[in-house]
Amino acid sequence: MFQYAAGRALAYRHKTDLLLDARMFQRYALRSFELTKVFNIHSRVATMDEIKNFEVAPGRPAQFLVENIDLLPRGRALDVAMGSGRNAIYLAKMGFEVEGVDTSREAIEEALERAREEGVSIQTRVEDLEKIPYFDEEAYDLVICFNYLQRSLMPQMKNWVKPSGMLVYETFIIDQVQFGKPHTPDYLLRYNELLNTFRGFRVLRYREGVVEGRKAIASILAQKV
Ligand SMILES: C[S@@+](CC[C@H](N)C(=O)[O-])C[C@H]1O[C@@H](n2cnc3c(N)ncnc32)[C@H](O)[C@@H]1O
Repeated sequence: MFQYAAGRALAYRHKTDLLLDARMFQRYALRSFELTKVFNIHSRVATMDEIKNFEVAPGRPAQFLVENIDLLPRGRALDVAMGSGRNAIYLAKMGFEVEGVDTSREAIEEALERAREEGVSIQTRVEDLEKIPYFDEEAYDLVICFNYLQRSLMPQMKNWVKPSGMLVYETFIIDQVQFGKPHTPDYLLRYNELLNTFRGFRVLRYREGVVEGRKAIASILAQKV
């Protein structure tokens, strides 16, 4: 009963009519941000783990990006450590000309396939960011990076943004250790670290802390001035 209620609540939040089988729901979420389908009734309701998995389904764009989309200048966008493309594809759908970079060829191929399925086009590069690959300086209206922390790359990321362009960065802070991975301090932001890193940019949005009771993150949207 509790599971059913939780499923209904989640379904309502995502404007679906029913959440009946989280596997189907998640599979659909991989392919589409607009969750408007009604699913057929299956033999059981979703477990809480399945519901949680849905919440982090790789096909859904980051909430912080979606919430702030209207502030972002349209044009060329670069998704750093793009993964399988949830944010890149979302930006392409929103009219950006998107490039994505990641070290994982498999992730890039998945992103390209999803982009094809979604009817949008993205450019991709397989690169090891630890080697600080070359991207044109001041060429991007928007640079984004989600769930990836490489402190040595921060100066380049700032350079890649055009004057008046914007940067959106979100990743885990040290309080994440209470929820699970990542544990290594190298991959966790210190308090206020993003604010300090992008000092010199104009900070339009910033948040830091526990989100949805399950992850500790910092998110920034800053404009190059
Ligand atoms: C947690 S995923 C985040 C993916 C995406 N930004 C998102 O939020 O859905 C981290 C990504 O960083 C990529 N990555 C890790 N080390 C990298 C490196 N040295 N160079 C480029 N990409 C790297 C991984 O392949 C993976 O796709």
